Amino acid sequence: MIKSKRRFPDLPHLVSLIDWKIPSIHRNRTRITRAMTISDLAKIAKKRVPKVVFDYVEGSALDEVSYSRSQAAFDRVEFTAHALRDVSKIDPSIEIFGQKVDLPILFSPTGYTRFMYHVGEPAVANVAAKNNLIYSLSTMGTTSPKELADQVPQARRWFQLYVMQNRKDSLSVIKQAKDSGFEALILTVDTPVSGIRIRDMKNGLTIPPRIRLSTVFAIARKPIWWLNLFTTKKLEFAAFRGWNKTLVELAAAIFDPATKFEDLKWLQSVWGGPIIVKGVQNLEDAKRLAKMGVDGIILSNHGGRQLEKGPVPLELLPEVVKAIGKKADVYIDGAVLSGQDAYAAVAMGAKAVFIGRAYLYGIMAGGELGVERVIEIMKRDFINTMALTGARNIAEVQKTGARLRNS
Ligand SMILES: Cc1cc2nc3c(=O)[nH]c(=O)nc-3n(C[C@H](O)[C@H](O)[C@H](O)COP(=O)(O)O)c2cc1C
Repeated sequence: MIKSKRRFPDLPHLVSLIDWKIPSIHRNRTRITRAMTISDLAKIAKKRVPKVVFDYVEGSALDEVSYSRSQAAFDRVEFTAHALRDVSKIDPSIEIFGQKVDLPILFSPTGYTRFMYHVGEPAVANVAAKNNLIYSLSTMGTTSPKELADQVPQARRWFQLYVMQNRKDSLSVIKQAKDSGFEALILTVDTPVSGIRIRDMKNGLTIPPRIRLSTVFAIARKPIWWLNLFTTKKLEFAAFRGWNKTLVELAAAIFDPATKFEDLKWLQSVWGGPIIVKGVQNLEDAKRLAKMGVDGIILSNHGGRQLEKGPVPLELLPEVVKAIGKKADVYIDGAVLSGQDAYAAVAMGAKAVFIGRAYLYGIMAGGELGVERVIEIMKRDFINTMALTGARNIAEVQKTGARLRNS
């Protein structure tokens, strides 16, 4: 048997190995920095916000099958890898409308962001700006287009719109976006009516949250979240401030079940800038939209929050890119929860991905710092995957490709 020769411990060496960092008093900051995945951040988020808020973000429609299918599709990805390429320099940037974006990961529009964390939309937009990414503000945002532009003027911003029952209402919101320097419009078309979200119904979600006896217990459990809610400005759909409508009236005015392709023509005539149609779920619609001259489409099922058991965007992606990829940019969203998921979608032909829940977990876990950590984690994995597949830039990622295994 081989034996190691023993010696007296080398004390100076031992001392040099000790990490002398004083434990931080900012416990949550430490937790955020130690989070290594988006799911780590989701776990922190779950502990910090009331159940009704976490469920609103994490939940989908009905049995939530669509969303688990989207996640499962990313699990089926298999990358192609080339060895012996010089990968000492990696460039994950792309160009969108003639301007560089540092990573093909963009921020989805999500309504009511200040409900998740009091700083809300401007905090997310600030992370987008710091990382040279694009932020999309929802029609249902808790920050108005003007407020966002005033607070984060340096952020590249797109505005998400629903065609409303009354064109005058749509025009007033479009004007706000135009006057506040929004570069492109995202028209969401998967919401002719609202999806049925069982978790929200069971939780009795109301916007703004109502104070009931159960709320008092909820406050006792997450006092900081509630303190932030009570000590910052009113939670409201900021683009409709002053409309004096109840929530039900507002929802009825915003979602128009009668919206048609012709409405898009009208929108093209009044907006005059780039339009990206979000919520496309089949090849025929994609072809028709490309023919109508839209600048891009987002293959999306609204993160499984609208039509349950619709098609999985990642599975639809290759045929749509093949059919219209030269005419319009094809983006994708839904269950992009890691840099590898983003890489997979881009390798399969997407121009870029949009993330929703990923950054919302970040903001719920730790405000702007949490969102910053989301981007750090996703960028780390995206670049690492590029190096390991031998793809040095996005053109090479797309040439290298990826596919879905059957099992
Ligand atoms: C809490 C929440 C609110 C959302 N609000 C909107 C919205 O106001 N408008 C919209 O077009 N999409 C909205 N979405 C859908 C996202 O833009 C995006 O399609 C979806 O989140 C992508 O899936 P992911 O969350 O897995 O990334 C919302 C999603 C979530 C999770």
